[in-house]
Amino acid sequence: MKVAGRIESLPPYLFAELDRKLAEKRAQGVDVISLGVGDPDLPTPEHIVGALRDAVGDAATHRYPSYYGAPAFREAVAGFYRRRFGVELDPDTEVMALIGSKEGIGHIAFAFVDPGDEALIPDPGYPVYGVSTQLAGGSPVSLPMPAERGFLPDLSAAAVSGRTKMLWLNFPSNPTAAVASLSTLEEAVAFSREHGLLLCHDAAYSEITFDGYVAPSVLQVPGAKDVAIEFGSLSKSYNMTGWRIGWVVGSAEAIRALGVVKTNLDSGQFTAVQRAAVAALTGPQGHLDELRAIYQKRRDRVVETLNGLCWELEPPKGSIYVWLPTAGGRTSTEMTDLLLNEAGVFVAPGSGYGAGGEGYVRVSLTVADDRLEEAMDRIARVLG
Ligand SMILES: Cc1ncc(COP(=O)(O)O)c(C=O)c1O
Repeated sequence: MKVAGRIESLPPYLFAELDRKLAEKRAQGVDVISLGVGDPDLPTPEHIVGALRDAVGDAATHRYPSYYGAPAFREAVAGFYRRRFGVELDPDTEVMALIGSKEGIGHIAFAFVDPGDEALIPDPGYPVYGVSTQLAGGSPVSLPMPAERGFLPDLSAAAVSGRTKMLWLNFPSNPTAAVASLSTLEEAVAFSREHGLLLCHDAAYSEITFDGYVAPSVLQVPGAKDVAIEFGSLSKSYNMTGWRIGWVVGSAEAIRALGVVKTNLDSGQFTAVQRAAVAALTGPQGHLDELRAIYQKRRDRVVETLNGLCWELEPPKGSIYVWLPTAGGRTSTEMTDLLLNEAGVFVAPGSGYGAGGEGYVRVSLTVADDRLEEAMDRIARVLG
């Protein structure tokens, strides 16, 4: 048996090695607190769970789902865009259901990248943009997100070529927690139009924002639908990571092309899960304020602890992460190892998110308050 070159050529997955180190520590009996993964610790709101229970009891949901998403789901997403962003979408052509936003983020490369093509990828950034580009036979090209610019890109310096097909952006950002104003998205739309690119904006954290900051949608930019799509997710706003439901909205042409890939590879998300997602999007939204308050309190605890040591962090305005430079000039991996070995606290090394992440680590806010307190006490003991 010979595995395909595209599999062998992917860079070694840093997080697999880290998982191994984490498992080894735990096997030694160390009570490791993991601030490494961005998987919300809080449960899905009860009315959404109830909607799933009801939907599962209806045999109409037991058959193959619609390829593009149930009409009610697509209308619920269009309703969310109207209420939240003042953006009108045609549910038939400008909205499609995804099996979690990661599924669409992975598959879109197969609709736009031919072998030898290039995609501009935020560096540091969520690793799936680059890996999917590679799996489709293309080359990810680094789009630097420098600290001096608040982890925002300088598009005038972007390495665009005749083979560039796509531009990826993600705000609020994983891993840097940077947020963008509408003007950053306006520049990206203009740049994509000028160079004939598909602009893909990943808005997975759009609802997790703090201090009164409200994240914009790229589709608020006039004419954005000509060049842009936006990926959205219920995972973080409704604590539904395990349910695997998200969406893509925007350019009808791009969504049609992604639909061609998807109709040939998957058969859509379970209709009962889509009905539960409709309950999430159209039902009471009170839990969102609670969620933001919980993450904001955790964020403050982390920033307070670290700023009491040797850091000078600005509290991030969005996402579920705190992104910090390593202490004492350590590499990302050295810092990760130090915290794991000395404090029993697991954080994600910034180098796992691209070369631009070297010298940073990412702290996730998705553990219960008492465990986060304990983690901060341990870090303060080791680095204080
Ligand atoms: C930036 C970003 N985009 C997309 C995803 C995928 O989310 P989903 O659960 O909708 O597939 C994640 C998950 O962590 C993420 O961090």
